[in-house]
Amino acid sequence: MSGCCEPDRNDYQSVFSSRFARRQSRRYHRRGLTPAAQGIVDFAASRGVEGATVLEIGGGVGQLQVELLRRGASHVTNLEISENYEAEAARLLEQAGMTSRVTRRFVDVAQAPDDVEPADVVVLHRVVCCYPDYARLLAVAAAHARATLVYSHPAANVVNRVQFGAENMYRRLTGNAFRAFIHPPQGMVRAAQADGMAVAYRHHAWDWDVVGLARN
Ligand SMILES: C[S@@+](CC[C@H](N)C(=O)[O-])C[C@H]1O[C@@H](n2cnc3c(N)ncnc32)[C@H](O)[C@@H]1O
Repeated sequence: MSGCCEPDRNDYQSVFSSRFARRQSRRYHRRGLTPAAQGIVDFAASRGVEGATVLEIGGGVGQLQVELLRRGASHVTNLEISENYEAEAARLLEQAGMTSRVTRRFVDVAQAPDDVEPADVVVLHRVVCCYPDYARLLAVAAAHARATLVYSHPAANVVNRVQFGAENMYRRLTGNAFRAFIHPPQGMVRAAQADGMAVAYRHHAWDWDVVGLARN
């Protein structure tokens, strides 16, 4: 990473590789959504996704998008930093017959907020932990959400801290500048609430927590 506020695209490309994308895709085909991802979809659906536009930040191969479109969302815009998901994402959308309902873009919305249109629902699953400036990312995400914002983050517990610490140590030793973060849960909520959103849903698990917010 080049600094606290300007993440380097190449670092993301090396971690979120084609191999990583294939693994995510295989997992989804075999076992469906993870419990945290399912919590995100269920919360968004409970707030109403029929006809809604969705902005997914860091959507990877796009498994959540397929489920939100199945629940009636009209269109999804996916923002990514890594370009390595595209083959798997295209395959997934083609199989689901949803290619025309998703726009995939390479934009870091925290760096270029004005380049991205707002949407009814904004989703970030397993993304805040991959971004150093969580406050900026979540504040921008909230400002782009007309009605609903939902994000997941690693639970701030000992198991995750040890795992993230070990992975970051390995990256340091192998010369990879990417770092993953366990950001402070309350700090993330404060950033997400700054633009008039209020917490409406929480799912706590040992691995990934989900926080859902609704516009007041
Ligand atoms: C752990 S992956 C998760 C991918 C997908 N959401 C999933 O759960 O399978 C995190 C992804 O977030 C993306 N990402 C992180 N910060 C981002 C940002 N500011 N804008 C767009 N994408 C971002 C990374 O490129 C990476 O692909």
